[in-house]
Amino acid sequence: MANVIIRPDWHLPESSITPINEYHNRRAFVKQLGLGAGIAGLSLADTLQAAAAPKLYPAKRNAKYNPKIVLTNKAWATGYNNFYEFTTSKEHVRFLVDKFKTNPWQVEVSGLCDKPFKFDALDMAKKLGLEERVYRFRCVEAWSMIVPWTGYTLSKLLKQAEPKASAKYVKFYTAMKPAEMPGLARLPQYPWPYTEGLRLDEAMHDLTFMATGIYGEPLPKQNGAPLRLVVPWKYGYKSIKSIVKIEFTDRQPKTLWNALAPREYPFESNVDPGVPHPRWSQASERLIGPNPVRIKTIKFNGYPQVAGLYK
Ligand code: MTE
Repeated sequence: MANVIIRPDWHLPESSITPINEYHNRRAFVKQLGLGAGIAGLSLADTLQAAAAPKLYPAKRNAKYNPKIVLTNKAWATGYNNFYEFTTSKEHVRFLVDKFKTNPWQVEVSGLCDKPFKFDALDMAKKLGLEERVYRFRCVEAWSMIVPWTGYTLSKLLKQAEPKASAKYVKFYTAMKPAEMPGLARLPQYPWPYTEGLRLDEAMHDLTFMATGIYGEPLPKQNGAPLRLVVPWKYGYKSIKSIVKIEFTDRQPKTLWNALAPREYPFESNVDPGVPHPRWSQASERLIGPNPVRIKTIKFNGYPQVAGLYK
């Protein structure tokens, strides 16, 4: 790590990110041109989806989750993705999602609860209403972004199912559609579908978010449309994409990464600079953008309010 420059926490040079004002100015400029989302890096399908839900986006930003830091450039957040169901190449996910149908989209909430139910992703967004939150996002691979997510708290959704007292964990499942997700066949040894899990108290925490949008627009498919989890104090792989099922259980669920490499991807996976990954340090991270910078990683990714969950 001899070449790593450690700067003060969250030191961000102007060149690596889009200042919030500039981002909004650009949006206004694009709107004036009448070109809509197409020019801003979204596919035609994304643009049509955006047109189908004009009232939901952009949602009002929640002042409680609006840190005074600048956002990661949108082109990077929507163009540098981990979504192994399509490809392991981060720069290519967005070119492989065209066949993936994300509307209509049914999600099942079941398991140890009194009121299991099924819902359509867009209908639920309308029913619950949306807010915007700016969160830091830290991948286990030691890169990070600062992202404006749109969505609702997971607790709002889960409470509707009335979990039983015996429910201790929540398990999440990604869609498994081989005809639409070319990466599934390329990794036949993986225990698909992609699954993840949280303890019920983690799932009910106010920070735990179901994202339906990003940068004031519906989620592009490469970012996990139409509904993905965002758990900002945990490594990014916990933030499972394109969810089709949520299940209450009394046992710690098996998850894809934990099943593949339990020492490298423990169930809890809280961001912690003091606990190295077996193959690399987690003490610092590369804040991605046109001019990436290396910054210090902070425990719980800078969300100390969750510390009480781990006493
Ligand atoms: N969810 C599914 N279904 N498949 C994946 O490969 N990758 C995870 C997570 N959720 C992944 C997933 C990882 S490792 C990260 S870092 C984030 O998604 C990346 O989210 P982003 O592409 O929106 O930045």
